[in-house]
Amino acid sequence: MDPLPTAHLGHRKKRPRQTGASMTSTPHDIRFRDLVLFILEKKMGTTRRAFFMELARRKGFRVENELSDSVTHIVAENNSGSDVLEWLQVQNIKASSQLELLDISWLIECMGAGRPVETTGKHQLVVRRDSPDHSNSDPQRIPPPAVQTISQYACQRKTTLNNCNRVFTDAFDVLAENYEFRENESCSVVFMRAASVLKSLPFTITSMKDLEGIPCLEGKAKSIIEEIIEDGESSEVKAVLNDERYKSFKLFTSVFGVGLKTSEKWFRMGFRTLSKIRSDKSLKFTHMQKAGFLYYEDLVSCVTRAEAEAVSVLVKEAVWAFLPDAFVTMTGGFRRGKNIGHDVDFLITSAEATEEEEQQLLHKVTNLWEKKGLLLYCDLVESTFEKLKTPSRKVDALDHFQKCFLILKLHHQRVDSDKASQQGGKNWKAIRVDLVMCPYERRAFALLGWTGSRQFERDLRRYATHERKMILDNHALYDKTKRIFLKAESEEEIFAHLGLDYIEPWERNA
Ligand code: CTP
Ligand code: MN
Ligand code: MN
Repeated sequence: MDPLPTAHLGHRKKRPRQTGASMTSTPHDIRFRDLVLFILEKKMGTTRRAFFMELARRKGFRVENELSDSVTHIVAENNSGSDVLEWLQVQNIKASSQLELLDISWLIECMGAGRPVETTGKHQLVVRRDSPDHSNSDPQRIPPPAVQTISQYACQRKTTLNNCNRVFTDAFDVLAENYEFRENESCSVVFMRAASVLKSLPFTITSMKDLEGIPCLEGKAKSIIEEIIEDGESSEVKAVLNDERYKSFKLFTSVFGVGLKTSEKWFRMGFRTLSKIRSDKSLKFTHMQKAGFLYYEDLVSCVTRAEAEAVSVLVKEAVWAFLPDAFVTMTGGFRRGKNIGHDVDFLITSAEATEEEEQQLLHKVTNLWEKKGLLLYCDLVESTFEKLKTPSRKVDALDHFQKCFLILKLHHQRVDSDKASQQGGKNWKAIRVDLVMCPYERRAFALLGWTGSRQFERDLRRYATHERKMILDNHALYDKTKRIFLKAESEEEIFAHLGLDYIEPWERNA
C-alpha cells in the first residue's frame, strides 16, 4: 500500500576487480605456509607488481592474485598506512588486527634472505605512533594496528537517531551553520562532516584517546572537542551563539521563503526582530515570505509524527482519487524514523499513468485542495527532467522532477478524532508539505535522493564520484568508465551498483 516496491536483487559487488597480472605464471612450491601475501597494485603499477609476485612465488611464498580473507600480509609501495586502510575500506574489507600492512622494503628483505624476515616497526605501515600512552606504558607490547574501521563517507556508516555525542554535535552544528550564514562553504563542510561522523559512533567520546581512528576530526574540530571535554563548553561556540549576525540569520531564516540573501539584506538594514520586519511598510515580500509570516507560529512549531501520518492520509486520498495505482511514499526525515520534522515529504509515482496523466496529477491534487479550502500556499514547479542527460556532478544539485512546495491546512480532527473541534478559535494547523512526482523507472533514485539526510546524500555522491568514477543524483546513476546508465528498481540495487553495503533509511541520519 505505501512504500515503493523494493525487490531485493542483491548482486553486490564487494570484492575488487584485481585482475591478476601474473595469471600466466607457472606454479611454484609453497615453502612458507603461514603467510599469505597480497601485493597492492595502487601506486606500484601492474608491471612492478607482477615482477614482485613472480619473484616471491619463486622463493616459495604464497602470493594471492586477489585479496581474500585468507591473506595475512598486505604489501604496498608508496602508500601510507591510512592510504592502505582507506583502500581496504573502499573494497569493503575489514582489516583484522592480525592482518599485517607492510611496506615493500619488508618483501625486498625477505627476497634477499630467501625466507620471511621478522616484521618490525620500520616495515609496518600501521602502528599507533600518535598515541603517547602506548609508548610509555609497555614498550614490549606490540600494539594492534589502529585499524580505521570508520569510513570518511557517511554512506559507509550507520547513523541512527541514537546520538551519543550530542554535546559535541550540537556545537559543530552551530559552527557549521554559522559558516553557512557567512557563505564559507569549506569551513561549513568541515564541521558538518565532524558532526556527522560523531553521530555514527556507538559510544560517547570522553577523552581524546577515544578519537583515535575516527576520520574527519582533524585540526579545529579536534581542538573544540578537547575544549568541551575539559571545560564542558567551547568558547567559540558560545561566542557564535551570542553573535548578532548569527542570531539574526537564525531568526530570519526560520521564516519560510527567507534564505541567506534576504537575511543579509535585512541584517544590513539594521533589522533584528521579525516584528519590526513584518510591520515595515517599505519592505517588499515574496508570496512565499508572506505565507511564511502569516503561518509563522504553526510552521516553527515543527510537525509531529501523528500530524505527518494525518497528512499522509490526506495526500493519499487526493492522489488516489485521480491515479488509483499510484505509489505514495513518505520520504525525508520521517522515513528515517524521526518523530518531528520541519515539513512532510512525499514521493509519488505511477506505473500505469501516461505521461500526460503523470504531468497533470499534482495540478489536479492541488486544485482539489484549493476547492476544499485546504491549500494555504502552493508553488508548483514543472519538470525539467531530460531522460538522456548525465547526472549532475554537484553534490547539492537540485533535481528536475515536477514538484510542489505547499502549506496545507490540517484540521486537528484529522490528527486526533477525539479532540473536539468545537473548542472555538482556530481548529487547524498549517503544515509544510513537499510533493515530488517522478517517472516510474526513476523511483529508486528519487526515493534515495529524497530520503536524505542531506549529509548522507552529499557523501553518497562524493563516494560515487571519487571512489567509483560514477555520477549519482536524484534521477540516475552513470558509470563514467563504461559510459552507461545503471538501472535500478530499488534502493538496494543502487547501493549494490556502488559496491556499498545497504544502509537502511533509519541508519541514514548522518
Ligand atoms: N531534497 C532534494 N532536493 C530538494 C530538497 C530536498 O533532494 N530541493 C532532499 C534532501 O536530500 C533532503 C530530503 O530531500 O534530505 C528531504 O528534505 P528536507 O525536507 O529539507 O529535509 P528532512 O531531512 O526531511 O528534514 P526535516 O525533518 O527537517 O524536514
Ligand atoms: Mn522533510
Ligand atoms: Mn522537504
